[in-house]
Amino acid sequence: MFGKFALSLGLTVTAAAVLGGLCGSVASAAPAPHAGQPAVFNRTSAAEAPQLGAAVNDVMLDKAGPRYVQTLLAHYRSITPEWEMEMSQLEPSRGHFTFARADQIVAFANRHHMPVRGHTLVWDEMVPSWVLHGSWTRAQLESMLHTYITTVVSHYRGKVEEWDVVNEPLTTDGHMRQSIWERVIGPDYVSLAFRWAHEADPHARLFLNEYGAEWNDPKEHALYQLVSGLKAAGIPIGGVGFQAHLLLDAHPPQAELTGVLRQFAALGLRLEITELDVRAGGSAPLARRMAEEASIYRTVAASCAAVRACARVTTWGITDAATWIGTSNRPLPFDTHYRAKPAWYALRAGLTPRG
Ligand code: G3I
Repeated sequence: MFGKFALSLGLTVTAAAVLGGLCGSVASAAPAPHAGQPAVFNRTSAAEAPQLGAAVNDVMLDKAGPRYVQTLLAHYRSITPEWEMEMSQLEPSRGHFTFARADQIVAFANRHHMPVRGHTLVWDEMVPSWVLHGSWTRAQLESMLHTYITTVVSHYRGKVEEWDVVNEPLTTDGHMRQSIWERVIGPDYVSLAFRWAHEADPHARLFLNEYGAEWNDPKEHALYQLVSGLKAAGIPIGGVGFQAHLLLDAHPPQAELTGVLRQFAALGLRLEITELDVRAGGSAPLARRMAEEASIYRTVAASCAAVRACARVTTWGITDAATWIGTSNRPLPFDTHYRAKPAWYALRAGLTPRG
């Protein structure tokens, strides 16, 4: 089904490009514990709960005060820098790398023995203007991206356990997003990015991270086609991240999300829910919205817990006081005063494996 479907979308061409691309013969190396890092977390059995992580930004870490840090350390076990590792933040001008803000978050995580998810090496947003507005041949842009990935991953080698190597490569209907990487390099940019990241840190687990692929629909089918093509070509992909930015009126049934996760697990990949939040604004009574939000948190957590390959759920922030979608949408497990919401209790309950 996927082959025929992909053909209708031209994805077979993409998959063939991946298969025919410059594929290192490297297998996806199982990451070993980094020096100074906690032992890599793996769910050794389905009876073990997935780990809980949070996106953290340096402004909150610096200025939010003790309740933020207390809540983070009390309830979360891993950290994703929310935006400090984006290309526009790390290399704002060519050859000029600014790691300080991201280093601060990584140092905090390492100090507290919390694994770090590097986010993200290649994306079509947060691309610095010197890249976006440059005049590049394919060879020149490949060389630039190779240097960038090698520099960044080498800088964090031994401090970052896993990377979102490529973020959001697909459009809603399952085609390759027309980023500068796709337009100038072509679909091979995906396999090249994974190969270069693996060369820079063979121990890091390498993810492809996507949103809107939590349903059994064209985008998810295209993601499966892309990822299975990478695996078949021996590209060192170690995991798939499902962002799970959900809404009260747009969230997958538990059976459907569990089925999607099982399908990708069958490829031998680690899976993670990487950016969970639930947009819960609106005019309906607050209690009803918070109850609906909690139900969605529980569904996502329980779907991950049901599939042993799903090892971590990361919420995209901690408190409604600091969220990319605005406080009025109340998307996170703790309210603006760090009080646990129904979503928090539902998240915890969902993470507890059944049976
Ligand atoms: O904090 C700085 C501030 O110091 C500076 O003065 C100001 C003006 O430049 O920018 C502030 O940083 C902003 C940052 O959010 C913190 O608010 C950046 O401009 C802004 O671009 C950044 O947006 C982030 C966005 O990705 C783009 O990187 C969001 O925080 C972040 O939540 C969002 O996260 C994305 C994931 O990376 C990928 N999946 C979707 C998700 C939501 O869009």
